[in-house]
Amino acid sequence: MALTYNIAIDGPAGAGKSTIAKMVASKLGFIYVDTGAMYRAMALYFLRKGIGSGEEEAIEKACKDIEVLIRYEDNVQQVFLNGENVSGLIRTEEVSNMTSATSVHKPVRQKLLELQRQLAATADVIMDGRDIGTCVLPHAQTKIYLTASSHVRALRRYKELTEKGEMCNLEEIEQDIRERDYRDMHREIAPLKQAEDAVYLDSSQMTIPQVVDAIIEAARERGLS
Ligand code: DC
Repeated sequence: MALTYNIAIDGPAGAGKSTIAKMVASKLGFIYVDTGAMYRAMALYFLRKGIGSGEEEAIEKACKDIEVLIRYEDNVQQVFLNGENVSGLIRTEEVSNMTSATSVHKPVRQKLLELQRQLAATADVIMDGRDIGTCVLPHAQTKIYLTASSHVRALRRYKELTEKGEMCNLEEIEQDIRERDYRDMHREIAPLKQAEDAVYLDSSQMTIPQVVDAIIEAARERGLS
């Protein structure tokens, strides 16, 4: 019998996975594991080294020189790339696009798989990503597929950026989201798809508390005490 309780949340970019997962984690006393941040740290390394997203051999070689670590400070996940805390450097559009393009490569995915499984084996976690329910944690007690229409997701991102005072264009954001969706869903290894036993939640017309409650209810129905 599993000693830890695992909740897997998968879904496309901008569906609200991290916001929701953080809230669920805090309500349940779980650890929130953001796997996208790990892929982002690796993409940052490739960008810094000037390695192109299609340069398979260079990427495979570089993977040997990368160490990604996760630590928690005041319950907030910090991601370390070869000892450097890069958490504040991995949320740019440039890194987002590079991450989607480089996470298709097998050596990149293999590097992070073990780390993710170890985290889930040692603590009650809610882990979000693209392949958590289908590949990383196939035995997670609760699996959620969280999505929203690409238009709603683009609007949310647009609001977030304009509130930060950044200039941006809604159509471009939606186009970027569609391209990332396509890449994430059509790659050969561990593509984004709903696990057969996942609960499907479309958050387009739901409030954040409604989604949080739906996930906790699903976990209670699946043995969470
Ligand atoms: O969740 P995010 O937006 O931070 O993820 C960034 C990219 O990382 C996403 O476009 C695809 C990739 N990713 C992945 O391939 N597998 C995961 N488990 C998490 C993220």
